[in-house]
Parts: sequence; structure tokens; C-alpha cells
Amino acid sequence: MGDDALLAAALAVRQNAHAPYSGFAVGAALRDEQGRIHVGCNVENAAYPQGLCAEAVALGALVAAGGRRITAVAVVADAPAPVTPCGGCRQKLREFASDATPVLCANTAGTTMPTTLGALLPHSFGPDHLP
Ligand code: THU
Repeated sequence: MGDDALLAAALAVRQNAHAPYSGFAVGAALRDEQGRIHVGCNVENAAYPQGLCAEAVALGALVAAGGRRITAVAVVADAPAPVTPCGGCRQKLREFASDATPVLCANTAGTTMPTTLGALLPHSFGPDHLP
């Protein structure tokens, strides 16, 4: 139950992306502290800024299902290089993850770039900073 299952889940949900404006379909999958996988795809909107990233949708699914920690992330899109989470999503994921949390960035051609949330978002601001 490793990266393969998480990446497969991200690839599968990507098929459901609503991305008529960018044409850039993204799939994301998050593993929670119980080992469960939660998925999301990007959901764009005619009012462009209202669109949601795949990672944000997956995060909502994890929290709604009662998950409280992210133990692994996979993101995939059809791009020349493996797709990394956008800056805003890195911060969203940070709320429920740690620097060591593995993030598997991938493209549909099968190129992968394993990294961590700490590498993607160094010196991040998180819940511990608040009094
Ligand atoms: N997008 C994601 O869903 N996740 C990312 O990590 C990068 C970008 C979406 C937002 C928008 O719907 C489309 O990809 C193009 O930016």
C-alpha cells in the first residue's frame, strides 16, 4: 500500500476534473493517518478565481471523512515535467502534514519526482506558531 496505490488514485480521479478553461486536468490523492486514501480533482469555474485545485478538493474530502493528518501526497497532470502543488496548496497541506511528509509529483507519462512538503515549503508557517 505505497506510492503506487496513491498515484493510481490520483490518476483515476483526474479523469473527473472540471477544467474547461485551462484544459489542464489535475488529480490529487492524500493518505490519512488511518491509511485511507482521499482524492480530488480540479474544479474550475466560469468566474475563474473561484476554481479549486485538486489538492484542495482532496484535502476537503480527507477532513470531511474525519481524517486529521496527511501522511502522503500524490499529484498528477499531463505536463512535460511532474506537477508540483501550487504555493497556496502547499500551505493548505501544511496544516495537516509535516516537513517529512512525502509528496509524489508525477505526470501522465509516468515520470515521477518524489519530494517532501518541507522541501516544497521550507520554513513554513503552521499551527504551532499561533499562541
Ligand atoms: N492546478 C491544480 O489543481 N493543482 C496544482 O497543483 C496546479 C494547478 C489546477 C488549477 C487550474 O484549474 C489548472 O490546474 C491550471 O492552473
